[in-house]
Amino acid sequence: MSGRAPWWRGATVYQVYVRSFADSNGDGVGDFPGLISKLDYVAALGVDAIWLSPTHPSPNRDWGYDVSDYDIVNPEYGTEADFDRLLKEAHARGLRIMTDEVLAHTSDEHAWFVESLKGGEKADWYVWAPAREDGTPPNNWLSAFGGPAWSYHPARRASYHHKFLRQQPKLNWRADGARAAALAVLDSWLKRGVDGFRLDVANAFLHDTALRDNPAVPQSARDASYWSRAANMQLHRRDSNLEDNLQVLNEIRMRVERYPDRFVMGEFSEDPERCGAFASPSEGLHSGYSFPLLHADKLGPEFIRDHYRTLARFPAHWPSIAFSNHDVIRTVTRFGGEKAPPALARLLLALLVALRGTLLLYQGEELGLPEASLRRDQIRDPIGDLYYPLYRGRDGCRTPMPWDAAAPNLGFTTGSPWLPLAPEHRELAPSLQERDPQSTLSCARRLLAARRESDALRLGGIEFLDAPAPVLAFLRTCANDRVLCAFNMSADDVSFQSDLLRHAVPLPICTDESRIEGDVLAMNPYAAFFAHV
Ligand code: GLC
Ligand code: CA
Repeated sequence: MSGRAPWWRGATVYQVYVRSFADSNGDGVGDFPGLISKLDYVAALGVDAIWLSPTHPSPNRDWGYDVSDYDIVNPEYGTEADFDRLLKEAHARGLRIMTDEVLAHTSDEHAWFVESLKGGEKADWYVWAPAREDGTPPNNWLSAFGGPAWSYHPARRASYHHKFLRQQPKLNWRADGARAAALAVLDSWLKRGVDGFRLDVANAFLHDTALRDNPAVPQSARDASYWSRAANMQLHRRDSNLEDNLQVLNEIRMRVERYPDRFVMGEFSEDPERCGAFASPSEGLHSGYSFPLLHADKLGPEFIRDHYRTLARFPAHWPSIAFSNHDVIRTVTRFGGEKAPPALARLLLALLVALRGTLLLYQGEELGLPEASLRRDQIRDPIGDLYYPLYRGRDGCRTPMPWDAAAPNLGFTTGSPWLPLAPEHRELAPSLQERDPQSTLSCARRLLAARRESDALRLGGIEFLDAPAPVLAFLRTCANDRVLCAFNMSADDVSFQSDLLRHAVPLPICTDESRIEGDVLAMNPYAAFFAHV
């Protein structure tokens, strides 16, 4: 089976936030040559591919997620030749490269939008509508980043739609020209040799052409999160998450599959059941990730069980699994607060590595980095600026990698970093963790290596066992290979009984100690246990 499965099934994809990974020229911004110098580190983790956060030129209103030219690389990160060398050097180490393509919207500085402002043949490449008689927006759609999802522009005497910042106008995928141009972007990077894509807001390619209002979230379904942003008070049924979005996903995948061995995975940030997020890899994208695991903050078996209960309703879908990325609070802080013990970081890595799906591992997660805390004047994320101090934005998970505990700026740059290095990351630098076989990094390497070697962990089915909370236990099975995985998701000693334990052969990747006594497993706080059964 493993011989025939496409490479991305069960693979681990390491997300590199290029701007904060490694700076080679002292300008304080991470770049391609910097990343090339760290490829041995990435390869040694035992991951299969790298997802590069956006690599195209951008006015950086949303740090690369506002693209002003899809055809070239961001000169802040290096030259075209540097990018090609990155592809070559990664491939030479057996690492595939995926780019992050942001095609649901562009920057307002993209030539297409500049043309559209003038009317002419690109008039309908964006979603334009007349303002209401009193100048207010055409309908009730709200932006995920605050305020109406429309801005009036005097050039057209009309409003254009933007799901995010006003500098991120929505590309109109219903206009043939715009759609063809967006698809051509994918072709050109596939030709260039990239191995696949992460598609930004893949739930949001299409909008309702009648521009009907979004419905409100019913009162009975509201919890605290609904009040955090006004846009959370509406169901995003008309601006995004349309049922015919699936056809776009399918078209994209077929385009990608013209090239052998490529992978296309999407981000589904809202209402995934409607927009094709859970399609099979032959109907929509190959895979996708949604947000329940990224937003979960209560440690315990339920958030995992709930998510797989949802996934079980879509058996033909192949999920991507992420606890962490550039949009959410780093896991150890999210689940463990400010004084999270190192054992929690190991537990979360062990859990991730045990799960069914394609894994997305965010830079620094392998080190157990906590969220950095920044002062208001250090914040660069527009939504942090908007809602500070209630919400500090996403910079706390985007601070640069701490490479060397003894170097200025922890080895990230010789200049002045675009975001500060977190002092609390010093003791977690790889320069120290590399030397300690018990460190989180060493543990992450062992776990990832074990996953690579095990068909059960990589490709097997998942079956949850009836373990009492705070224990989470499941079997991963592929042909004759069956692995029992058990996790103590608490700071207390616990025990777990199962007949399967009588003949269990523990794997050498267990963390934080468990002991088998007959058919009982006694587990230390945050212990992760793996055994052939
Ligand atoms: C996605 C990205 C996020 C970005 C947004 C708008 O959610 O992950 O970083 O701000 O799309 O492009
Ligand atoms: Ca640089």
